[in-house]
Amino acid sequence: MPEKPAKPDKSDKAKESKPSSSSSGVSRRDFLKISGVSAAVPLVSHVSALALDDAPHVQGPGKVPVSLTVNGKKLNAQLEPRVTLLDALRDQFELTGAKRVCDRGTCGACTVLMDNKAVYSCSVLAIDAQSAQITTVEGLGEPGHLHPIQQAFIDNDAQQCGFCTPGFVVATKAFLDQHPNPTPEQIKHGLGGNFCRCGTYAGMRAAVLQAAKTKGA
Ligand code: FES
Ligand code: FES
Repeated sequence: MPEKPAKPDKSDKAKESKPSSSSSGVSRRDFLKISGVSAAVPLVSHVSALALDDAPHVQGPGKVPVSLTVNGKKLNAQLEPRVTLLDALRDQFELTGAKRVCDRGTCGACTVLMDNKAVYSCSVLAIDAQSAQITTVEGLGEPGHLHPIQQAFIDNDAQQCGFCTPGFVVATKAFLDQHPNPTPEQIKHGLGGNFCRCGTYAGMRAAVLQAAKTKGA
């Protein structure tokens, strides 16, 4: 028969549960706490110093000078850093072609070109657009000198309320620059980031095909 383990002595239990104390009155647990804190303090201070060194230059929240190049012209304003490119164009520079509809990067009504790429201007900060060449629908053509894409939208009756039209025209410019001879399927896919609540998609796709055939679109 296996021998029964000896019952633990009560005095041993008491020894285990009590933290050990040194003769100076500091327990082992207290010592570990103290040494842990003192080891952590210089580390945290060092990390904070590094973070401060690497901290980006903060601008705002007040107005700061912002300089944009829009349709080939330099435009300057004092803007809070939180101002979007769309709001700067519309409210500061009176370029109201780009429309504010969803204001959250969903509908495409605010589309402009930044360095020839279509972007939702409601989702770009003006302060971040300073180094780019920005083109709005006003920069493509004007009454009497319409851009071939604008003319194609008219010829194909490609708008009803017209609220989405500037965004579609600008998106079409970026699309045709990349796809000069698009298929209907490519047009459908390529303009998929713009929505028309009036549902004039058939006219718009016909307009894009016409513009693609027009030299200079
Ligand atoms: S207003 Fe910018 S995507 Fe709708
Ligand atoms: S024409 Fe009305 S939203 Fe497109």
